[in-house]
Amino acid sequence: MSDASTQQQVVLTCAQPTGKLHLGNYLGAVRNWTRYLDGYECYFGIVDLHAITVPYVPADLRRDTMECIAQYIACGIDPDKANIFVQSHIIGHTELAWILSCLCPLGQLERMTQFKDKSAKARSEDNQAFIGSGLLQYPVLMAADILLYNADIVPVGEDQKQHLELTRDLAQKFNFTYSETFKVPDLFIPKTGARIMSLQNPTKKMSKSDENQTSTLYITDDEKTIRKKIGSAVTDSDSGPGCVRASDDKPGVTNLLGILGVATGKSVEELEKEFAEASYKDFKDAVADAVAKMLAPVREKYEAVVADKKYLTEVIKRGDDAAQKRAFKMLGKVQRKAGFVAR
Ligand code: TRP
Repeated sequence: MSDASTQQQVVLTCAQPTGKLHLGNYLGAVRNWTRYLDGYECYFGIVDLHAITVPYVPADLRRDTMECIAQYIACGIDPDKANIFVQSHIIGHTELAWILSCLCPLGQLERMTQFKDKSAKARSEDNQAFIGSGLLQYPVLMAADILLYNADIVPVGEDQKQHLELTRDLAQKFNFTYSETFKVPDLFIPKTGARIMSLQNPTKKMSKSDENQTSTLYITDDEKTIRKKIGSAVTDSDSGPGCVRASDDKPGVTNLLGILGVATGKSVEELEKEFAEASYKDFKDAVADAVAKMLAPVREKYEAVVADKKYLTEVIKRGDDAAQKRAFKMLGKVQRKAGFVAR
């Protein structure tokens, strides 16, 4: 724990327990968080309360939560350096969400892109689809996740920008309505080296829900699967020297160059030179080698951690304790300012 003389900045981010992580999650998000592990006070939450805003199966949620934590640890979120907690274990997230929801204009929630997309998608599949009001409240709960820890830095992907803007609005609204309480977290979207695209349809982002699962490389895929998926990745019909280059009209090759770049730490220009004479086959073999090499330790670590329930339970317990301590401080302050009588 930090004291006043060594005040560290607080970094908080959360992720839904969505099951398997893919290469896009790993390279685009998780690897970026690991750079905060030294020199910052880090909180990393698995947001199971957010996961129930859409229909789900309880047994899957339970399993996915544990597997997700094991995957994040395998990706380098070191539980000795970051507090890994489970959102539903911490008193304060839903309490603060309620208080914030009373300050949040309904129209602002109805205008959120993610709410509109998710509800429209559910209705397009079934026009009687059930849409719970929790889906509408989702961004308020997310604001509570962030403000409960008074986080300085909240690394999120571009798709979360609107939610972070709402968090800033609600922090300001609370501060204005009651009195200065919350830090207004900066909007900070880390620039990632590469956007990882689908291997089969490289104009779309790599996604877990892709119908064609050869499109998506999971961090727990074994070497054989990695080779098969990269081997069948879409390239182009041209061949011969110079076919391996990044360009707008070669999205498949550009994507593979990006992947090889992050896996090897080389620039796309360097790689274009290195593969100037190569065929697509040779190039894909090199990409598969590099990805397999990068993911092997991740997979091994995952398998060891996920099998060790006792260790995972200890990790969560430690993370929960630290998170709860910080959360209680903030919640007490908020309840006082809102005029609730002391216990
Ligand atoms: N909505 C985020 C996502 O889907 C997950 C999330 C919930 C989150 N609460 C958060 C991210 C707080 C950062 C901070 O990715």
